[in-house]
Amino acid sequence: MSTRDWIAARGRPLRGEVLVPGDKSVSHRAIMLASLADGVSRIDGFLEGEDARATEAIFRTLGVRIDAPGPGVRIVHGAGIDGLRAPAGALDCGNAGTGMRLLAGLLAGQGFDSTLVGDASLSKRPMRRVTGPLARMGARIDTGEGGVPPLRIHGGTVLSGLDFDNVLASAQVKSALLLAGLYAQGETIVREPRPTRDYTERMLAAFGWPIEFSPGIARLSGGHRLRATDVRVPADFSSAAFFLVAATLVPGSDLLLKQVGMNPRRTGLLHVLRLMGADIVESNPGEQGGEPVADLRVRHAPLRGIQVPEAHVPDMIDEFPVLFVAAACAEGETRVTGAEELRVKESDRIATMAAGLRALGVTIDEAPDGATIAGGSGFGPGTVDSHGDHRIAMAFAVAAQRADGEVRIRDTANVATSFPDFERLADTAGLALRIDAGA
Ligand code: S3P
Repeated sequence: MSTRDWIAARGRPLRGEVLVPGDKSVSHRAIMLASLADGVSRIDGFLEGEDARATEAIFRTLGVRIDAPGPGVRIVHGAGIDGLRAPAGALDCGNAGTGMRLLAGLLAGQGFDSTLVGDASLSKRPMRRVTGPLARMGARIDTGEGGVPPLRIHGGTVLSGLDFDNVLASAQVKSALLLAGLYAQGETIVREPRPTRDYTERMLAAFGWPIEFSPGIARLSGGHRLRATDVRVPADFSSAAFFLVAATLVPGSDLLLKQVGMNPRRTGLLHVLRLMGADIVESNPGEQGGEPVADLRVRHAPLRGIQVPEAHVPDMIDEFPVLFVAAACAEGETRVTGAEELRVKESDRIATMAAGLRALGVTIDEAPDGATIAGGSGFGPGTVDSHGDHRIAMAFAVAAQRADGEVRIRDTANVATSFPDFERLADTAGLALRIDAGA
């Protein structure tokens, strides 16, 4: 496969309006719950990215009829809570940690065996965080050596509810246990050290499953059924984040991001950018499929370095690559701590960002749980390697808008996992980005 490099450089001030694609987390969950529901659900705003499509393909393999009458639209003919069919072969989650971890919980409750595999990046990611607590519920899941994929899930086991106090703040772990809990006898309770995104809980409630939840805790019992419902997927805050930072950094920018998902467990970057001095104004608040949305108007503003409050870390866990870029342009130092989870994302995001920023002349000190980034030096021209990590690639495309020369960003094909339209939208908004497909 070609690595599909980008050559990025300073473009124009970002102007006009941008509507980013549907939320990845919500798209995964919508396919899963609609597939297990009784009746036909319609999903609008479904993310046409490789991660969500991998989950969709898996449910087709599990016997669910899913029609795709148009872009971003899915009609899911639910099979019912016990209606999935044994797959003939391994189920490929692609690059998607969310897909694999949530499916581990969901498939542990089925009457058949299944195997989950992933791409090279996913095949290195830790799975014991889900298989450990699932085993305590009675699940039988074999991992590869060292607790990584593939996951071999033995079906036909009786699951029992678990009261689980997680040491990690992880929505994926919480969701895996709640999905296993649908099939368990008794009550499943998940407690978290810091609240994480609550899409699974909200969506289970929307599909009619009795569930109680508040920030930091969720509880449900097995033995109910899901009722088909329509889901409107809000625009993904994590995709909007690249434009929030780009417009903040490029002088003369004045950009409107339309109807962005504003779930408070996702908008940590907004608070942090404002603490740094960003000019971002919310307007036109509304609701889409039970999720808050708003327009975000962002104008260029100078930034100052800060200590990122650890309380915001889970609420911006996917936004650190682009925050590091913002920090490199701020006046003074920015310090990130309490973010060791970055080491086990699609790449080691602390190491990958540090290497890339250094290649562009930025001073950054790595720590096990974060980094200290010296602001103000600007970016030189250079070559950075995204290590096939979509958010690293997009973060450096933003950095290039302030670089003194061209930045080559290697290995950007995986941007299609979360933001298939990025290149076109970036061009429309004013970023200078060209594709070197033959690289
Ligand atoms: C996600 C949870 C987060 C996040 C990921 C999506 C989800 O992962 O980084 O992109 O949809 O539940 P963790 O649960 O590992 O923090």
